[in-house]
Amino acid sequence: MTPGMPLGPRLAAIAELVLPWRPLADIGTDHGRLPTALVLAGRVPWAVACDRSPAPLARARVTVQRAGAADRVQLRLGEGLAPLMPGEVATAVIAGMGAPTMLAILAADRERTRSLARLILQPNFGHEQLRRGLSDVGLGLVEECLVVERGRFHVILVAEPGGAGVQLDDLQCLVGPHLLRRGGATLQQQLEQELRRCEREAAGLARAIGAVDPLRRAGQERRRGLLLRALEKLRRQGHPGPT
Ligand SMILES: C[S@@+](CC[C@H](N)C(=O)[O-])C[C@H]1O[C@@H](n2cnc3c(N)ncnc32)[C@H](O)[C@@H]1O
Repeated sequence: MTPGMPLGPRLAAIAELVLPWRPLADIGTDHGRLPTALVLAGRVPWAVACDRSPAPLARARVTVQRAGAADRVQLRLGEGLAPLMPGEVATAVIAGMGAPTMLAILAADRERTRSLARLILQPNFGHEQLRRGLSDVGLGLVEECLVVERGRFHVILVAEPGGAGVQLDDLQCLVGPHLLRRGGATLQQQLEQELRRCEREAAGLARAIGAVDPLRRAGQERRRGLLLRALEKLRRQGHPGPT
Protein backbone atom coordinates (compact mmCIF):
# COMPACT_ATOMS: atom_id res chain seq x y z
CA MET A 1 0.00 0.00 0.00
CA THR A 2 1.07 3.59 -0.60
CA PRO A 3 2.35 5.17 2.61
CA GLY A 4 0.00 7.68 4.25
CA MET A 5 -0.76 5.92 7.48
CA PRO A 6 1.84 3.26 8.27
CA LEU A 7 0.43 0.02 9.66
CA GLY A 8 2.13 -2.68 11.74
CA PRO A 9 2.58 -6.16 10.21
CA ARG A 10 -0.78 -7.46 11.50
CA LEU A 11 -2.97 -4.66 10.11
CA ALA A 12 -0.83 -4.42 6.95
CA ALA A 13 -1.45 -8.12 6.25
CA ILE A 14 -5.20 -7.59 6.76
CA ALA A 15 -5.12 -4.55 4.42
CA GLU A 16 -3.53 -6.68 1.67
CA LEU A 17 -6.50 -9.08 1.80
CA VAL A 18 -9.22 -6.42 1.43
CA LEU A 19 -11.09 -6.47 -1.92
CA PRO A 20 -9.68 -3.48 -3.81
CA TRP A 21 -11.79 -0.55 -5.03
CA ARG A 22 -14.87 -1.72 -3.12
CA PRO A 23 -16.35 -0.28 0.09
CA LEU A 24 -15.15 -1.67 3.40
CA ALA A 25 -16.46 -1.96 6.96
CA ASP A 26 -14.20 -2.32 9.98
CA ILE A 27 -16.19 -3.87 12.83
CA GLY A 28 -14.69 -3.13 16.25
CA THR A 29 -12.50 -0.45 14.73
CA ASP A 30 -11.23 1.15 17.99
CA HIS A 31 -8.31 3.36 16.82
CA GLY A 32 -9.69 3.42 13.25
CA ARG A 33 -6.25 3.07 11.65
CA LEU A 34 -7.18 0.32 9.17
CA PRO A 35 -10.06 2.06 7.32
CA THR A 36 -8.18 5.37 7.40
CA ALA A 37 -5.02 3.83 5.90
CA LEU A 38 -7.06 2.07 3.20
CA VAL A 39 -8.88 5.20 2.02
CA LEU A 40 -5.69 7.29 2.15
CA ALA A 41 -3.95 4.69 -0.02
CA GLY A 42 -6.88 4.76 -2.47
CA ARG A 43 -7.30 1.03 -2.02
CA VAL A 44 -10.99 1.41 -1.08
CA PRO A 45 -13.25 4.30 -2.19
CA TRP A 46 -14.90 4.72 1.23
CA ALA A 47 -15.25 2.87 4.50
CA VAL A 48 -17.47 2.52 7.55
CA ALA A 49 -15.72 2.31 10.91
CA CYS A 50 -18.00 0.70 13.52
CA ASP A 51 -17.68 0.04 17.21
CA ARG A 52 -20.14 -0.88 19.91
CA SER A 53 -18.63 1.52 22.45
CA PRO A 54 -18.51 5.32 22.28
CA ALA A 55 -14.94 5.69 23.64
CA PRO A 56 -13.23 3.60 20.91
CA LEU A 57 -15.38 5.31 18.27
CA ALA A 58 -14.19 8.68 19.60
CA ARG A 59 -10.57 7.45 19.16
CA ALA A 60 -11.40 6.47 15.57
CA ARG A 61 -12.87 9.95 15.00
CA VAL A 62 -9.58 11.55 16.07
CA THR A 63 -7.59 9.31 13.70
CA VAL A 64 -9.94 9.99 10.77
CA GLN A 65 -10.05 13.76 11.32
CA ARG A 66 -6.29 14.12 11.82
CA ALA A 67 -5.75 12.24 8.55
CA GLY A 68 -8.22 14.48 6.70
CA ALA A 69 -10.29 11.42 5.74
CA ALA A 70 -13.67 12.40 7.27
CA ASP A 71 -15.26 12.60 3.79
CA ARG A 72 -14.36 8.93 3.12
CA VAL A 73 -14.66 7.20 6.52
CA GLN A 74 -18.07 7.18 8.22
CA LEU A 75 -18.23 6.42 11.93
CA ARG A 76 -21.11 4.32 13.27
CA LEU A 77 -21.95 3.16 16.76
CA GLY A 78 -23.47 -0.31 17.06
CA GLU A 79 -23.17 -3.99 17.80
CA GLY A 80 -21.46 -6.24 15.22
CA LEU A 81 -22.80 -5.90 11.67
CA ALA A 82 -26.00 -4.10 12.79
CA PRO A 83 -24.78 -0.60 11.73
CA LEU A 84 -24.50 -1.81 8.09
CA MET A 85 -27.23 -2.04 5.47
CA PRO A 86 -27.21 -5.48 3.76
CA GLY A 87 -25.07 -5.24 0.61
CA GLU A 88 -23.71 -1.81 1.50
CA VAL A 89 -20.05 -2.87 1.66
CA ALA A 90 -18.08 -5.67 -0.01
CA THR A 91 -15.52 -6.48 2.69
CA ALA A 92 -15.95 -6.54 6.45
CA VAL A 93 -12.94 -6.83 8.72
CA ILE A 94 -13.39 -8.10 12.29
CA ALA A 95 -10.03 -8.03 14.05
CA GLY A 96 -8.70 -8.11 17.58
CA MET A 97 -11.55 -9.95 19.37
CA GLY A 98 -11.96 -13.54 20.54
CA ALA A 99 -13.47 -16.22 18.29
CA PRO A 100 -16.68 -16.59 20.38
CA THR A 101 -17.48 -12.88 19.92
CA MET A 102 -16.80 -13.13 16.18
CA LEU A 103 -19.02 -16.19 15.75
CA ALA A 104 -21.78 -14.46 17.72
CA ILE A 105 -21.53 -11.41 15.43
CA LEU A 106 -21.70 -13.59 12.30
CA ALA A 107 -24.60 -15.69 13.60
CA ALA A 108 -26.63 -12.70 14.83
CA ASP A 109 -27.75 -11.65 11.36
CA ARG A 110 -27.15 -14.23 8.64
CA GLU A 111 -28.62 -11.98 5.93
CA ARG A 112 -26.06 -9.27 6.60
CA THR A 113 -23.26 -11.84 6.94
CA ARG A 114 -24.12 -13.45 3.59
CA SER A 115 -24.51 -10.07 1.89
CA LEU A 116 -20.75 -9.54 2.24
CA ALA A 117 -18.45 -10.64 -0.57
CA ARG A 118 -15.57 -11.21 1.88
CA LEU A 119 -14.92 -11.31 5.61
CA ILE A 120 -11.45 -10.95 7.07
CA LEU A 121 -11.25 -12.32 10.59
CA GLN A 122 -8.28 -11.97 12.91
CA PRO A 123 -9.11 -13.59 16.25
CA ASN A 124 -7.07 -12.81 19.36
CA PHE A 125 -7.67 -16.39 20.42
CA GLY A 126 -9.70 -19.41 19.31
CA HIS A 127 -8.75 -19.71 15.62
CA GLU A 128 -9.50 -23.46 15.79
CA GLN A 129 -13.05 -22.78 17.04
CA LEU A 130 -13.51 -20.05 14.43
CA ARG A 131 -12.52 -22.34 11.53
CA ARG A 132 -14.88 -25.01 12.86
CA GLY A 133 -17.79 -22.54 13.17
CA LEU A 134 -17.58 -20.86 9.75
CA SER A 135 -19.65 -23.40 7.83
CA ASP A 136 -22.45 -23.09 10.41
CA VAL A 137 -22.89 -19.44 9.43
CA GLY A 138 -22.75 -20.19 5.69
CA LEU A 139 -19.12 -19.18 5.12
CA GLY A 140 -16.20 -21.01 3.53
CA LEU A 141 -12.53 -20.47 4.38
CA VAL A 142 -10.79 -19.28 1.19
CA GLU A 143 -7.40 -18.04 2.44
CA GLU A 144 -5.29 -17.75 5.58
CA CYS A 145 -2.26 -15.83 6.61
CA LEU A 146 0.05 -15.99 9.63
CA VAL A 147 2.03 -12.95 10.76
CA VAL A 148 4.30 -12.14 13.68
CA GLU A 149 4.08 -8.80 15.40
CA ARG A 150 6.15 -8.02 18.49
CA GLY A 151 6.92 -11.70 18.98
CA ARG A 152 3.26 -12.74 18.87
CA PHE A 153 1.68 -14.91 16.17
CA HIS A 154 -1.55 -13.65 14.55
CA VAL A 155 -3.77 -15.85 12.39
CA ILE A 156 -5.87 -14.10 9.73
CA LEU A 157 -8.75 -15.97 8.08
CA VAL A 158 -10.48 -14.94 4.86
CA ALA A 159 -14.03 -16.26 4.54
CA GLU A 160 -16.60 -15.89 1.78
CA PRO A 161 -20.25 -16.91 1.43
CA GLY A 162 -20.70 -20.51 0.35
CA GLY A 163 -18.95 -23.51 1.70
CA ALA A 164 -21.69 -24.37 4.18
CA GLY A 165 -21.43 -28.09 4.76
CA VAL A 166 -17.71 -28.17 3.86
CA GLN A 167 -16.32 -29.85 6.96
CA LEU A 168 -12.69 -29.41 7.87
CA ASP A 169 -11.01 -32.29 9.69
CA ASP A 170 -9.44 -31.87 13.14
CA LEU A 171 -5.94 -31.20 11.79
CA GLN A 172 -7.25 -28.59 9.34
CA CYS A 173 -9.23 -26.84 12.10
CA LEU A 174 -6.24 -26.71 14.43
CA VAL A 175 -3.58 -25.61 11.96
CA GLY A 176 -5.51 -24.20 9.01
CA PRO A 177 -5.88 -25.97 5.65
CA HIS A 178 -4.27 -23.16 3.63
CA LEU A 179 -1.44 -22.59 6.11
CA LEU A 180 -0.73 -26.31 6.24
CA ARG A 181 -0.66 -26.61 2.44
CA ARG A 182 1.81 -23.71 2.12
CA GLY A 183 3.98 -24.65 5.12
CA GLY A 184 6.96 -22.40 5.86
CA ALA A 185 9.18 -21.34 8.74
CA THR A 186 6.64 -19.07 10.51
CA LEU A 187 4.06 -21.84 10.72
CA GLN A 188 6.71 -24.25 11.99
CA GLN A 189 7.67 -21.79 14.76
CA GLN A 190 4.02 -21.27 15.73
CA LEU A 191 3.36 -25.01 15.91
CA GLU A 192 6.53 -25.60 17.94
CA GLN A 193 5.45 -22.89 20.39
CA GLU A 194 2.00 -24.47 20.62
CA LEU A 195 3.53 -27.91 21.20
CA ARG A 196 5.75 -26.58 24.03
CA ARG A 197 2.65 -25.02 25.65
CA CYS A 198 0.75 -28.29 25.29
CA GLU A 199 3.61 -30.25 26.86
CA ARG A 200 3.89 -27.81 29.78
CA GLU A 201 0.17 -28.25 30.42
CA ALA A 202 0.53 -32.06 30.23
CA ALA A 203 3.38 -31.91 32.78
CA GLY A 204 1.16 -29.75 35.03
CA LEU A 205 -1.65 -32.30 34.79
CA ALA A 206 0.74 -35.14 35.56
CA ARG A 207 1.83 -33.34 38.75
CA ALA A 208 -1.74 -32.43 39.74
CA ILE A 209 -2.86 -33.71 43.11
CA GLY A 210 -6.25 -35.38 43.01
CA ALA A 211 -8.32 -36.56 40.10
CA VAL A 212 -7.83 -34.94 36.70
CA ASP A 213 -10.81 -34.92 34.34
CA PRO A 214 -10.02 -37.80 31.92
CA LEU A 215 -11.72 -35.86 29.09
CA ARG A 216 -9.34 -32.96 29.62
CA ARG A 217 -6.35 -35.30 29.55
CA ALA A 218 -7.64 -37.04 26.40
CA GLY A 219 -8.31 -33.71 24.66
CA GLN A 220 -4.83 -32.60 25.40
CA GLU A 221 -3.26 -35.82 24.15
CA ARG A 222 -5.29 -35.50 20.95
CA ARG A 223 -4.07 -31.94 20.46
CA ARG A 224 -0.45 -32.95 21.02
CA GLY A 225 -0.83 -35.76 18.48
CA LEU A 226 -2.25 -33.36 15.87
CA LEU A 227 0.57 -30.86 16.42
CA LEU A 228 3.19 -33.60 16.00
CA ARG A 229 1.46 -34.75 12.81
CA ALA A 230 1.44 -31.21 11.41
CA LEU A 231 5.12 -30.70 12.26
CA GLU A 232 6.02 -34.00 10.62
CA LYS A 233 4.10 -32.92 7.49
CA LEU A 234 6.03 -29.62 7.41
CA ARG A 235 9.36 -31.40 7.84
CA ARG A 236 8.54 -33.62 4.87
CA GLN A 237 7.54 -30.57 2.80
CA GLY A 238 10.79 -28.80 3.73
CA HIS A 239 13.10 -31.79 3.24
CA PRO A 240 11.59 -33.95 0.53
CA GLY A 241 13.02 -37.43 0.65
CA PRO A 242 13.73 -39.64 -2.36
CA THR A 243 10.65 -40.23 -4.47
C1 LIG B 1 -8.89 -4.85 20.75
S1 LIG B 1 -9.91 -3.76 19.86
C2 LIG B 1 -9.40 -4.14 18.20
C3 LIG B 1 -9.20 -2.91 17.36
C4 LIG B 1 -8.87 -3.16 15.91
N1 LIG B 1 -9.93 -3.89 15.24
C5 LIG B 1 -7.56 -3.91 15.78
O1 LIG B 1 -7.60 -5.08 15.47
O2 LIG B 1 -6.50 -3.32 15.98
C6 LIG B 1 -11.51 -4.51 19.93
C7 LIG B 1 -12.64 -3.51 19.64
O3 LIG B 1 -13.79 -4.25 19.31
C8 LIG B 1 -14.91 -3.63 19.87
N2 LIG B 1 -15.96 -4.65 19.97
C9 LIG B 1 -15.96 -5.76 20.75
N3 LIG B 1 -17.08 -6.48 20.54
C10 LIG B 1 -17.80 -5.82 19.59
C11 LIG B 1 -19.06 -6.06 18.95
N4 LIG B 1 -19.78 -7.12 19.25
N5 LIG B 1 -19.47 -5.18 18.02
C12 LIG B 1 -18.74 -4.09 17.72
N6 LIG B 1 -17.56 -3.80 18.30
C13 LIG B 1 -17.09 -4.65 19.22
C14 LIG B 1 -14.41 -3.10 21.20
O4 LIG B 1 -15.22 -2.03 21.67
C15 LIG B 1 -12.99 -2.65 20.83
O5 LIG B 1 -12.96 -1.30 20.46
